[in-house]
Amino acid sequence: MPAVIRLGPGDAERYVRLRLRMLTVAPWAFSATPEDDEALDVPHVAGMFAGEHHATFAIEAARAPEPGREMERESVLVASASLTRAKPPKFSHRARVWGVFVEPAYRGRALGKALMGAVIAQARSWPGVAFLDLAVSANSPEAQRLYESFGFAVWGREPEATQHDGRRFDEVYMTLRL
Ligand SMILES: CC(C)(COP(=O)(O)OP(=O)(O)OC[C@H]1O[C@@H](n2cnc3c(N)ncnc32)[C@H](O)[C@@H]1OP(=O)(O)O)[C@@H](O)C(=O)NCCC(=O)NCCS
Repeated sequence: MPAVIRLGPGDAERYVRLRLRMLTVAPWAFSATPEDDEALDVPHVAGMFAGEHHATFAIEAARAPEPGREMERESVLVASASLTRAKPPKFSHRARVWGVFVEPAYRGRALGKALMGAVIAQARSWPGVAFLDLAVSANSPEAQRLYESFGFAVWGREPEATQHDGRRFDEVYMTLRL
């Protein structure tokens, strides 16, 4: 089972590097673009990671050391998933899953599964949270399959919800009752 870590404010910089990767590698899968994404702003992300209504989980992998610096062990984030609890009282029984991404070279090795397990366990630990919501692009059937494997059910589909590079994609809405 890959080791899942919960990110803190000190991880904001390396998370932003992974966030830029997800927006670049799978642009249809995320509503933000690199030009307008708050999650690319290091102070904003550090504040978010410090907040009690938020949790981001990640998996790191060792990066090959540069020549001459073999003694320095560095690690890089290769996968992440985020969870934000709704603040308004009428919605505080709900939390949203977003930013689910695994670097292409690491896919198919149960990293996504490990991250979603951590997200769901965290949501269950928040008193009063009864539903987990998410939206997934119809262009990411493997992500929809991952969520279904945890019991998420589709409740709606918005036709041509997003557009990117001359293509439009439906958005599929899913919920898990905890
Ligand atoms: C979706 C994503 C996170 C899955 O990550 P992953 O680490 O490869 O997934 P896992 O190896 O943990 O697989 C877990 C389950 O997901 C589903 N799944 C993953 N890859 C799949 C594929 N290529 N085809 C079909 N189902 C797939 C399966 O149900 C799988 O369970 P199984 O192996 O028991 O059949 C990854 O493909 C990704 O980053 N996609 C691009 C970004 C994206 O679409 N994110 C979702 C935003 S809402």
